[in-house]
Amino acid sequence: MSGLVIERLLSDPGYWRKWGTVSDEDGRFLEMLIGMIGAKSVLEVGTGTGFAALYMGSGLLKTGGKLTTLEIDPERLRRARANLEEAGLGRTVDLLEKDAWEALPRLRGTFDMVFLDAVKIDAVHYLDMALPRVRRGGVILAHDVNWGYGNTENHKMRDYLDALKTHPCLETILLSDMSSKLQGISGAGMALSRKTCTHGECPARPGRLLTRTPAHLGSVSPDPVEHTVLEKYVDDYGNPGYCLLVGRSLTKPEVVGLCEHYLLHHEQNSTLLVHLYASLEAFNYRNDLSSPHERYFKHLIAQCYRHPRFAHDEIRYFPDAQVLLYGKAAA
Ligand SMILES: C[S@@+](CC[C@H](N)C(=O)[O-])C[C@H]1O[C@@H](n2cnc3c(N)ncnc32)[C@H](O)[C@@H]1O
Repeated sequence: MSGLVIERLLSDPGYWRKWGTVSDEDGRFLEMLIGMIGAKSVLEVGTGTGFAALYMGSGLLKTGGKLTTLEIDPERLRRARANLEEAGLGRTVDLLEKDAWEALPRLRGTFDMVFLDAVKIDAVHYLDMALPRVRRGGVILAHDVNWGYGNTENHKMRDYLDALKTHPCLETILLSDMSSKLQGISGAGMALSRKTCTHGECPARPGRLLTRTPAHLGSVSPDPVEHTVLEKYVDDYGNPGYCLLVGRSLTKPEVVGLCEHYLLHHEQNSTLLVHLYASLEAFNYRNDLSSPHERYFKHLIAQCYRHPRFAHDEIRYFPDAQVLLYGKAAA
């Protein structure tokens, strides 16, 4: 029955763009993978209108399993519920109106498969929160790893890809979605990772959290180092971001001063991401996924990040891969 609902949704050519659904090909892949690994317990972050859930639900009907899926937006969830019920998947899919940031740390049990398809910039944090709940040999997939709609989007999955690459407990391959290329848009791509150790054995991912800065560092520098704003953008979720050209290497206190200047002046209840580039060339690498990863990070001096739901801000300082965390109270 889900086939009929999928066909109806696919017959509306604007549907996937309006609701940000996976492609038919990606959906079929998710369904097939569930059958191949015999998954019985699957978690999705970002239900949307339930399009991917229709495929995963069909796969789980055959394995006798269940999908738990998290969605923050009531309107999308309402549409998802209607689609899944029409497809006869009401009992197979557990739709939760929940914010992933709150729900993921509280999840119990283990999952055979996790599918991440919500806010791209948050994917690396979803990974950190969901990975302890994935069984050994289980898989995590992330959608849109080479998101190609806008110039500013690709770098959002760089942190995620970087985390996969350095994670001692994950083996990863990237899958390219050719069907969306045929529609004239570069493929969204998925990362498929397999967890190779159990939670107890799994060390913290390198690059995450290394020092907690003393409070005195959390004061706004009145005179940050000279820089040019190369780009100010607003992503699909309304979050602002800046790409700054500094044009030279910076000392750590200079990086901290410049990042703080942006972080501590950002008072809106939205995510803020600021990238500091040493050269214009480096800025141009950011959307070029064919450029070696090392090259990108070699020229990116730092990234800073404020998330409204995070208790701290973060400055990731690349030369020695330190991540500095700031208590929000410092602002
Ligand atoms: C790309 S859409 C998901 C598409 C869906 N997987 C499909 O194939 O139809 C991303 C969804 O993530 C949801 N989302 C964003 N932030 C979230 C959060 N913190 N917790 C739960 N869902 C979130 C958005 O409301 C949006 O519906």
